[in-house]
Amino acid sequence: MLSGSVCFVIMSKMPYFCPAKRFYSAFGSFVIECYYPKLFTMLKKYQAIDAQLFVENRQRLAAQLPEGAIAILTANDESPRSADGFHPFRQNSDLFYLTGIDQEDTILVLFPSCPQKEWREVLFIRPTDEHIAVWEGHKYTKEEARTASGIQKIIWADEFDTNLPNMMYLAESCYLNTNEHTRMRTRVLDHDHRFALEMRQRYPLHTFRRLAPILHRLRAVKSEAEINLMRQAIAITGAAFRRVLQFVQPGVAEYEVEAEVLHTYIRQRATGPAYGSIIASGKNACVLHYVANNQTCENGDLLLMDFGAEYANYAADLTRTIPVNGKFSPRQKAVYEAVLCVLKAARQMLKPGVLLDDYHREVGLIMEKELIGLGLLDAEAVANQKPNEMPLYKKYFMHGTSHFLGLDVHDVGLKHLPIEAGMVFTCEPGIYIPEEGIGIRIENDIVVMPIGQDNIDLMDEAHIPMEVDEIEALMQR
Ligand code: GLY
Ligand code: MN
Ligand code: MN
Repeated sequence: MLSGSVCFVIMSKMPYFCPAKRFYSAFGSFVIECYYPKLFTMLKKYQAIDAQLFVENRQRLAAQLPEGAIAILTANDESPRSADGFHPFRQNSDLFYLTGIDQEDTILVLFPSCPQKEWREVLFIRPTDEHIAVWEGHKYTKEEARTASGIQKIIWADEFDTNLPNMMYLAESCYLNTNEHTRMRTRVLDHDHRFALEMRQRYPLHTFRRLAPILHRLRAVKSEAEINLMRQAIAITGAAFRRVLQFVQPGVAEYEVEAEVLHTYIRQRATGPAYGSIIASGKNACVLHYVANNQTCENGDLLLMDFGAEYANYAADLTRTIPVNGKFSPRQKAVYEAVLCVLKAARQMLKPGVLLDDYHREVGLIMEKELIGLGLLDAEAVANQKPNEMPLYKKYFMHGTSHFLGLDVHDVGLKHLPIEAGMVFTCEPGIYIPEEGIGIRIENDIVVMPIGQDNIDLMDEAHIPMEVDEIEALMQR
């Protein structure tokens, strides 16, 4: 659609709420839907994304595919929840990365060397009709899918099976996607996995190849458009933290704090949390994956909060630790400053050419010094550590410092290859002392910049409070 124009489209014979502007209208038996530029495909809470991002992502993938290769990716399932209910739909991150299409029953076919030009990029989308519009709401029209993805050839998904043989006939090798996240353990076969099994049976003489390593490498380096989407997720997360600073006081429950966070997310167009929020007071903060969030925040305790919004399928990942009563005790402050010191050093150590393993070792050495300073480790014992034994600092800092961040909170990336500019990592040192009821983690999201330039701390850029004085001042009522 032309920029600045407003288009009225007769959509169906049923009354219809316009998703772009809450515009309700029934003209006789016809209904009018109004669209605005940019909001053209706002089928979700977030604003429509410029399709150029997805066009370029497909070009990057196409450049990696050899002559005669076809790549096919499928949408996530609508995951059953219980009885006749489903979990909220979450698009497959790879399919989203390549298409921007945020809807079930979507299939992308990329065949860059296909002799028939119009078949080089094909998108199959779920057919929609009046019945579906009434019961489930608006689904992408072909024109909307074209605008959202930049793909010209859009076909209804129920025609996929009739088109597949023609495409496979022309292809030598077939690249399929499976979830190869190294931390994933599940007995549930996802849609891509089932599709791969079917395809191997149906085309036993084709060569099948893995898309995952290619996509992990591509997705790890973020474009400016992606970083801007992450900035939005981070801005919403920062707003949630500021709200919490006004809310927390002795006697509030962890789940009430969680509710404040969710309130901000939804009001500000986040889809929801990018992962289960950790709202851990007192010694609960020493349980790394604490998500019960059911205790009362007590006077004198700290409150560790690890939460992040998901905006347009991109994740923020923030951790802040605050005093429940608004003032750090001297010991809490000392431990907090030690964690902060490690974070400030570590976030500039994520530089192009560095290996993540080496980075983690170096951060461990900085943490070691801080723990000695806090009287938690003995300097002599540290000096006498054996290189092949578990380092002593791991008693108080037992997790990694950084992970990839992007469309997934623990995003994909090739961990054994050197860091590159444009990658986004978290930086999240922590010190956990259960015997003192203290667990402190601070987590910011960092864009790796070329050598010679400072990395960008997206949390600093968004002015998310982190210093002791700032936090104490904002908690004053
Ligand atoms: N919230 C998950 C993490 O920090 O890795
Ligand atoms: Mn986190
Ligand atoms: Mn994290």
